[in-house]
Amino acid sequence: MDRALQIDILKELMEQLDSGRNIDAGAQYRMATDVYTSPDIAEREWETLFRNHPQVIGATSDLPEPGSYLTINDFGTPVLATRDKNGDFHAFVNACRHRGAQVASEPRGRRNVFTCPFHAWSYANSGELIAITDEQDFGALDKSCNGLIRLPAEEKAGLLWVHPQPDGELDVAALLGSELLAELEAWNETEFAHGADKTIEMDLNWKLASDTFGETYHFAKLHKDTLAKLYSGNNLHLKEFGRHHRFVTASRQIAELRDQPEDSWDYGVGIAFTLYYLFPNTIVIHGGNSTLLRFYPDPGNPGRSITRVSIHAPAHALEHEKNLDASQISSESVYDAGSADIGAIAGVLEVFSSTVEHEDYVMGEMQQRSAESGALTHVTFGRNEPALHHLHTSFREALDLPPLEEV
Ligand code: FES
Ligand SMILES: [Fe+2]
Repeated sequence: MDRALQIDILKELMEQLDSGRNIDAGAQYRMATDVYTSPDIAEREWETLFRNHPQVIGATSDLPEPGSYLTINDFGTPVLATRDKNGDFHAFVNACRHRGAQVASEPRGRRNVFTCPFHAWSYANSGELIAITDEQDFGALDKSCNGLIRLPAEEKAGLLWVHPQPDGELDVAALLGSELLAELEAWNETEFAHGADKTIEMDLNWKLASDTFGETYHFAKLHKDTLAKLYSGNNLHLKEFGRHHRFVTASRQIAELRDQPEDSWDYGVGIAFTLYYLFPNTIVIHGGNSTLLRFYPDPGNPGRSITRVSIHAPAHALEHEKNLDASQISSESVYDAGSADIGAIAGVLEVFSSTVEHEDYVMGEMQQRSAESGALTHVTFGRNEPALHHLHTSFREALDLPPLEEV
């Protein structure tokens, strides 16, 4: 990230902390709760935002070497993503051209050839059909026209992007815009390695799951025994990039920078994290390591969602973590700063368990039940919750729903 921008963000957060005033959007908005419950809206979202919209399926480090692969089954089209012997990224429909069985089932692995479990046709990791079992009995077939069906795929800004439709249009540079693309690329996530995955499946709409990453107003209340020990909350820098945004909040250590000359301020010390929301369902959080979040609806149930978390870190940090004593890792050791070296990955996993799953998403399940009761027809987003205004304005625009109502 540009140094001048880092200083601007740190100053903005310091000013908010000095004045005791959070960010101010200048308006409040009301939103009908049917966006969390309506089967009709859920169906439109599924078609517009998932079945027919570019998707981030992982990070560059999820396919670390030639022969690496991933399988994804989260947005309707089963996807097989591979890195071929030249290091090129490909995405295919994970469906055998014989009669449609999935040619790979493990979430991730390493393979140069995929042999279908049904009748053992085999495919190269660059998609070509290599062999048809008992071809003399099956009959002649032009192998060159029967490779795995290719999906539009691009590797950009350290992320793996696909379009779920073989004839879909994917242009990541246009999707992000040049400013955001350059900023994401500057984080150099390509140098990281995959550390761990976590899946959270709970009874809340997928947008309630992402809403929880949309304000810092709740940190000191809901998270008083967890995250608020690290970050004070009630401060936020927000920058919109079309339907995407950057969201930054301060760490408690920002106070240490005040006595230092500005040109020696360490951005990584002063901020808690730098979060990028990428429309419609992806968040990338940078701060020492990198966490990728993807939110998916249960297509049959607006009241249920899946959050996929994957954590990536510099290789030396993963190596260091292997030597740590797992018994030191606890909620206390994560939130009582400096009490133990718990490692980059274990620390983030603990935060996603104790803070996100057991605090944020518990609120989300309550919010879901309130919306489903029909008795709570609207919610209100405060002047201090502009990222939520932006998230829901973007969803509503994409679905042709009327805009949020200013209070
Ligand atoms: S379905 Fe794959 S070989 Fe028959
Ligand atoms: Fe939270």
